[in-house]
Amino acid sequence: MSAPIPFKTVARHNRPGDAWIIINENVYDISTFPHPGGLEVLAPYLGRDATAAFLAQHNLDMLAIVEQNLVGVIDQEDEEWKQERQAAKNRVIESGLSARRATLAPISHILNTRDMAQAAESVMEPAGWAYYASAADDEVTLGENEAALGRLWLRPRVLVDVSKVDTSVQLLGAPSSFPLYVTATALAKLADPQGEVAITRACAKANVPYMCPTLSSCSLEEMTSARAPGQTQWFQLYVNKDRALAKDLLQRAEAGGCKAVLVTVDAPQLGRRERDMRFKAPQKSAVQEGDRVDTSRGTANALSSFIDPSLSWKDIEWIAGVTRLTLGLKGIQSGKDAVLATQRGAQAIVVSNHGGRQLDYARSGVEVLVEVMAALHKAGLHRQITVFVDGGIRRGTDIFKCLALGADGVGIGRPVLHGLAAYGEVGVVKTITMLRDEFATCLMMMGCPTVADIKAEMVVTSKL
Ligand code: LAC
Repeated sequence: MSAPIPFKTVARHNRPGDAWIIINENVYDISTFPHPGGLEVLAPYLGRDATAAFLAQHNLDMLAIVEQNLVGVIDQEDEEWKQERQAAKNRVIESGLSARRATLAPISHILNTRDMAQAAESVMEPAGWAYYASAADDEVTLGENEAALGRLWLRPRVLVDVSKVDTSVQLLGAPSSFPLYVTATALAKLADPQGEVAITRACAKANVPYMCPTLSSCSLEEMTSARAPGQTQWFQLYVNKDRALAKDLLQRAEAGGCKAVLVTVDAPQLGRRERDMRFKAPQKSAVQEGDRVDTSRGTANALSSFIDPSLSWKDIEWIAGVTRLTLGLKGIQSGKDAVLATQRGAQAIVVSNHGGRQLDYARSGVEVLVEVMAALHKAGLHRQITVFVDGGIRRGTDIFKCLALGADGVGIGRPVLHGLAAYGEVGVVKTITMLRDEFATCLMMMGCPTVADIKAEMVVTSKL
């Protein structure tokens, strides 16, 4: 194998007839390559990094056709190349995204989260869309999350004065305009160049807590320093096998003003997501910057290398010992583990199957919620723990159903990314406020002037 090539060397081969190009860390001599679109397609990239431009149009497997033109591998420590690659990527994202966003209807035409999802799909890079949309195996659990909510029916009460409806609540001691928070999702820059900073700002405007992700595109400090006065941020933790790194993240979250840590417990590794695997898009998160990560087998695979599969209950005790943050466990899927979590000192749990992305045939969040609440009541622990649920929340009525079944609040993930992809920060505000308005309407129709008026008997579970 020849020595890594410095970026300066590649940059000298920048003319038709003497043209090198970098794609996915490989350097190719394309001086004589007959691109079907003609030389002008390649012209902007001669002597430069064309990875992002290439991936916007092709699958990585297409690289096979230039295999014989391979000159060598770029020096991956070369700072000049790293900057060039990032700048090239930003140019592609921004030009492509703004052109595609220009084709969208005005945001006032978006009436619900499904409209927003459609708009997002029409503007996103196919690889980014595949990563967000992907779920485990046959995506049965993904569909079941929404389907199970669809099997719950409502029993409204009438002739209650609902001339004033108040949707506000406290979630883990923090005020929220309604019982919803934005959950952690990785790599927001696949949707918008402002990434998680835009989500942070939108959550402040809509007044709901934001659970900042470990595997974000922006750094933790970028997210926390974008926080508005009085805004609530929590931190979602993926535990790295280097526990010093996990401790460092916890300390950074504390120093940045996050109020709680939610440890993801349903992902010893990321699930098998075939939509994402097909694209093999080379992505990594801010926290992996500087790490050597194999990005050749899809986004989830690259992110997965950050996560320690040995995580167990004793680590939860260790985390509780090294942080002052309110401790929660995200990804509880049985009554037994909900009880265990409470006994081990967790102050919150998120009943979740990770948006169907981990284990196919895991049950829906709402189905597990019923089991969890029954187990907590039986053990006399239900007053000691905050219970959240996520997965498939697409309407205000879904939020109502979860609360009637005993949840204190719900998380949303994909709908926020859809808002971000389609319209940027204002799209996220729109997504959240559409759900809030629907929830307010639902409270009214159900005869509930406040969230405290929601009762278990108002949701019919017999078809669940
Ligand atoms: C995912 C991880 C990163 O589901 O939470 O892709």
